Amino acid sequence: MKDKIVCKSDAEIEKMRLSGRITRQVLEEVQRRVHPGVTTLDLEGYVERRLQEFGAAPAFKGYRGYPACLCASVNDEIVHGIPSHRRLKEGDIVSLDLGVVTEGYYSDAAITVPVGDISEPLKKLLRVTKESVALAIEKARVGNRVGDISATIQEHAESHGFAVVRDLCGHGIGRQLHEEPQVPNFGRPGHGPLLKAGMVVAIEAMVNAGGYAMRVADDHWTALTADGSFSAHFEDVVAVTRNGPDILTQP
Ligand code: MF3
Ligand code: CO
Repeated sequence: MKDKIVCKSDAEIEKMRLSGRITRQVLEEVQRRVHPGVTTLDLEGYVERRLQEFGAAPAFKGYRGYPACLCASVNDEIVHGIPSHRRLKEGDIVSLDLGVVTEGYYSDAAITVPVGDISEPLKKLLRVTKESVALAIEKARVGNRVGDISATIQEHAESHGFAVVRDLCGHGIGRQLHEEPQVPNFGRPGHGPLLKAGMVVAIEAMVNAGGYAMRVADDHWTALTADGSFSAHFEDVVAVTRNGPDILTQP
């Protein structure tokens, strides 16, 4: 565990962009394979094969004993769902979270996608969660603070009647998957660590349709909403630069 924020050089940021591009590419490909009847283990198999083809190592497999490349979290599962024989069905939502390492640099991104047709309230949950990341990325600027990012996610989600998860956070990222600083999904503007050029953070909004409380399943990984409400997750890696936020997890 690092206890200090590590700033990255321009050359390092370019390496992280290469890693992030693969993560995004594979996530977009796997998104197109989400249909009723598909199992989350089918999605895992696809990801494993594509990462091999890219010559990229999975970031999550083996991390604290996590058994897969992909996290696939269905409906009331918030994050860290382990791919299984569970079949996706029409009306479900599935959060796909993927991390990759290339040349020693990590990337990490997540999307929540509909399975077939979903209800209007679920469409809104997905839209608002995605928007909260986009709005938060705009705050990843030199001179701002981590609390500006956190408060933006919280404000946007709560203004639509949703709740942000408190027990899990975004994070710095670089030569390790998780670096300082922690990037909570709630907080106060103007508080927390100062953002400096070269800092790279994974901003990950975890938004519940019901209350914010979560629990961990008996598999010791899957995080679920305590009240059974559905949950969405979007994540991007962003570099803080003198020219503004630079999203590294783009195609
Ligand atoms: N995006 C998640 C995170 O940053 C994924 C981690 S899954 C794990 O915590 F298996 F690696 F823990
Ligand atoms: Co992450």
